[in-house]
Amino acid sequence: MARQFFVGGNFKMNGTKESVAQIIANLNSEELPSQVEVVIAPPAPYLGLAVAENKQKTVAISAQNVFDKASGAYTGEISPAQVKDLGATWTLTGHSERRTIIKESDEFVADKTKFALEQGLSVILCIGETLEERKANVTLDVCARQLDAASKIIKDWTNIVVAYEPVWAIGTGLAATPEDAQETHKGIRAHLAKTIGEEQAAAVRILYGGSVNGKNAKEFKDKADVDGFLVGGASLKPEFVDIIKSRL
Ligand code: 13P
Repeated sequence: MARQFFVGGNFKMNGTKESVAQIIANLNSEELPSQVEVVIAPPAPYLGLAVAENKQKTVAISAQNVFDKASGAYTGEISPAQVKDLGATWTLTGHSERRTIIKESDEFVADKTKFALEQGLSVILCIGETLEERKANVTLDVCARQLDAASKIIKDWTNIVVAYEPVWAIGTGLAATPEDAQETHKGIRAHLAKTIGEEQAAAVRILYGGSVNGKNAKEFKDKADVDGFLVGGASLKPEFVDIIKSRL
């Protein structure tokens, strides 16, 4: 089954009105391949700006996080409806920086993912192990645990993209090798086949994230279970376009 190549750009807590507009102007000026789905996630204050500036049909705008309630006394949180109100159509959930720094639990991430889907957003659900967990050889157990929290309460995975982002590879310049990524992605898909069914597991896109750049992206080209990338640092630079074009 052919899965559409997907490239996400997670700006994290970086940028200004000017720099976000500049990144989008750069994307607007490119002839992007029509077959690649691109989703960029600027910081929440710039979601409206990103929606207004984006002129590319194949580029959609994403939040980096949402809350699991529609509205109310939740100071500092952002609801999926507000994200949609700004014209964004995606959100990330479960990024490792939120799991480790903000201490979000698997269950909370799953709840937010479920609620965002119910509210009509598509979701990039991020999973991945820490260096300690990798050394302890429990990579797939950790990914399975993070996914199980979601699959327990979410039956329809049509609008979910999974991003496998090993914590040790994020922002370190030390990407997983294409072989390692493929092996883990294959394991993730096999696990999903058991929990959400073969058909959905075969259709769900699994992105690799962690120190992807304009050069190494091409090396993942022939890896059957790597359906795209979630890019941090390089999504702020012109080389993001090289990553978008890395499968051509
Ligand atoms: P880097 O590409 O900067 O390593 O970040 C990856 C990431 O966390 C994307 O969500």
